Amino acid sequence: MFNGSRCCCILCALVGLALAWLMLASVPVGQAQTPSGPVSFINDVAPILKENCFACHDAKKKKGKFEMTSYENIRKGGTKDDPIVPGKSRESIIIDLLTSTGVTRMPPKELADALPPEKIAIIARWIDEGAKLDAGVDAKAELVRELRVRWKPPQPPVAYKYPININALVFTPDSKKVVVGGHHELTVWDAANGKLEKRIFTRAERAYSLVFLPDGKLAVAGGRPGQEGDVRIYNINAGKPTMIGGVPAIDGVNDKTVFLQELVQTDDAILTLALSPDGKKLASAGTDRLLRVWDLPSGKLEHTIENHADWVFGLAFAPDGKHLATSSRDKTAKVWDLGAKESALTFPDHQQPVYAVAITSDGKLGISCGEDNQVR
Ligand code: HEC
Repeated sequence: MFNGSRCCCILCALVGLALAWLMLASVPVGQAQTPSGPVSFINDVAPILKENCFACHDAKKKKGKFEMTSYENIRKGGTKDDPIVPGKSRESIIIDLLTSTGVTRMPPKELADALPPEKIAIIARWIDEGAKLDAGVDAKAELVRELRVRWKPPQPPVAYKYPININALVFTPDSKKVVVGGHHELTVWDAANGKLEKRIFTRAERAYSLVFLPDGKLAVAGGRPGQEGDVRIYNINAGKPTMIGGVPAIDGVNDKTVFLQELVQTDDAILTLALSPDGKKLASAGTDRLLRVWDLPSGKLEHTIENHADWVFGLAFAPDGKHLATSSRDKTAKVWDLGAKESALTFPDHQQPVYAVAITSDGKLGISCGEDNQVR
């Protein structure tokens, strides 16, 4: 999944076809726009702060004892007072720091470029207009979460201009089609002739893991790296298609007959899924290091277990459905006892990130492989 290798099987041939098709297309790039009406804190200012300041001024790092994770915290200031004087951008420390040419500049000179003047102008105008918080937004609300809720996924391009990575694909249960993760979409291909049959638009920018459930629904783990992650359940056979670039496209973002359920939404991508052998449990793991297990078909979250020190890449159920194996960027593979809700065994031998795990069908052997080029 994470390191490519050459092969001539049908899946790789299909990936080749998918890639060739994806290469036709363009990926839109977001840009800061100067608002025409009054500047909105949450829509115009907060995204600039998130992108340029949160790395050092979040709840963990708080450089200068200054936390910018909520409107309230920003107005509290750090070692100095409120960095904002409403109505007076010229007297506001924050503008002073953003425009400084000296050592006090934010973000710090040695670590990042100054904000472009048009972004500073947006913040200054917001201050001059009174530095108000938008109606309906709580001053204590965590800005990262508020921005995520407001974020609207773009429509995938009609045709792709550049090749993109394919991080996940899966055969449909009848083996007649292959579902492939694209840019904010899943594409469905005829496995016999490699023809693109359908596009299904998704909130997730990337799909990292695709698993068909016993009832024929498709579980998709993915997200936008560094921004959000989710596990969503789709019915890929539902929805009213519209034609886009000569291909039927269905709306898996808003159409509730296609996008059926969101099992979880997180702050960064979910990377892997596994279905228990009896089809009654679905497990996920990813960049938040958490192992989650849901009961099926209810979708009730049964376990959230934390033990790995870094991203979890790989996940596999043992045949008994009670034990799970995981592999992680923390250079270990682990075996989990779901009954005891803890890790039963840790294998530290790889000493490099471990990408994948498997358990043999008799449940006696666990297999892991990783960046040390070893299969253990
Ligand atoms: C790479 C890390 C980093 C980034 C990115 C960064 N800062 Fe800072 N910031 C610091 C450090 C370190 C201090 C403490 C400086 C000191 O006390 O001399 C600080 C202090 C401040 C202060 C003064 C707080 C106080 O009360 O003392 C403000 C205001 C501030 N930063 C605003 C911003 C804004 C706005 C951005 C984004 C445009 C930003 N910073 C991005 C590292 C960072």
